[in-house]
Amino acid sequence: MKAASQTILVHEISKLQTKEAQWDPFAWYQEMRENNPVFYDAEQDVWNVFLYDHAKRVLFDHALFSNKKERSLIPTPREDNRANVNFVDPPEHRNRRALLAKAFTPRNLKEWEPRIHMIVDELIAEMEGRDTVDIVQELAIPLPVTVIAELLGAPTKDRHQIKSWSDILFMPYAKDTYSDVVAEKAQAMKEFHEYLLPIVKEKRKHPADDILSDLTKAELDGERLNDEEVVLSGIGLLGAGNETTTMLISNMFYSMLVDKPGVYQELRSDQSLVPKLTEEVLRFRFPAAMDRKVAQDTDVFGPEMKQGQVVVAWVGAANRDEAQFAHGEEFDIHRPGNQRHLTFGAGPHFCLGAPLARMEANIALTSFVKRFADIGLVENFEVTEHLIDSAIGQSLESFPIRLEQG
Ligand code: HEM
Repeated sequence: MKAASQTILVHEISKLQTKEAQWDPFAWYQEMRENNPVFYDAEQDVWNVFLYDHAKRVLFDHALFSNKKERSLIPTPREDNRANVNFVDPPEHRNRRALLAKAFTPRNLKEWEPRIHMIVDELIAEMEGRDTVDIVQELAIPLPVTVIAELLGAPTKDRHQIKSWSDILFMPYAKDTYSDVVAEKAQAMKEFHEYLLPIVKEKRKHPADDILSDLTKAELDGERLNDEEVVLSGIGLLGAGNETTTMLISNMFYSMLVDKPGVYQELRSDQSLVPKLTEEVLRFRFPAAMDRKVAQDTDVFGPEMKQGQVVVAWVGAANRDEAQFAHGEEFDIHRPGNQRHLTFGAGPHFCLGAPLARMEANIALTSFVKRFADIGLVENFEVTEHLIDSAIGQSLESFPIRLEQG
């Protein structure tokens, strides 16, 4: 199985096979931090680190832990090109990143803010007068995909189609369905590509005020990006900004209802606490893991790691490391320093969209809290009936909640 050797199967490392266990990997994380913090998975020839300092070192130290990897946990098809920021290290990475970074300046974010408010207001208006809503389907999914489609300059009316391609591209691989998933992804990539190409060509002729137009004008090492490169950058951004932000917003509601009942009322009386809740959810409830290739033989973490092997930084575990976060297994929006979580990565590849994701989450929750007096779990709610396997672990596919108007 050639392709399987390029893709590292995350559940095969953890051996967490049930939905329940994958949704709640935190006990396994704790066990690994305490008993096996530098763990070698011989089946896939992959090192795994679970402590905060180790994970941070993996992400920062690109000389030792490179992004030029032949194998990866990332389940999207590898479409390497000149503008790809993923599979490259500094110094090459710097110019590619600068190209995209232009889109995410604080000034641009300020300009986008009113539009994000409008999208949120429209979604919340649909919830007026109702007793229950599905917060995933009605807020956490439509908000990020609408925002990113608009910012890129793709027609927002196509957001359902865009979302469905992005879902397929981020589907996880599993041993038993491997070749089906590969074929489905290739088809989605082809369709997505065919959809974006004429849009990009049009932007090149008639640039508008959006990211795709900016990319058609952008130069990399003295040469303009060609249409193909702009298309792939667009697909990359649509992918990067979608599932992740959906997961954040869904988990914010789950945490308010399950991890810390009562916190909603605290936010209701003081909305300036919303960003603190966002950071704590990113720290506490994000089963993220990032990988790198060992660039040279090293024993920085104790055992000898060999050049060419893969190392996975289990960021979701690092985020609960007691050495960094006192009582790390507790959900506490008031703990100082929660924002030091590694959920957006660290070092040269730190998430470019982090300010956008934070802004979307904060605007969505602030507007929601202002509008609704309280929220509650629906009767007989069983989380396992609402999960879907995704690239970043199990995530909520739906989450019906009770609303108290007022
Ligand atoms: C809660 C939401 C998000 C999370 C948890 C997240 C997480 C991450 C992480 C962990 C990385 C680094 C990966 C690595 O080091 O291997 C990353 C990179 C990146 N993210 Fe995000 N992301 C989020 C939202 C977004 C959004 C909204 C966008 C833009 C639309 C975005 C665009 C990017 C880009 C372009 C990179 C590549 C940066 C580079 O390689 O230099 N992300 N993200």
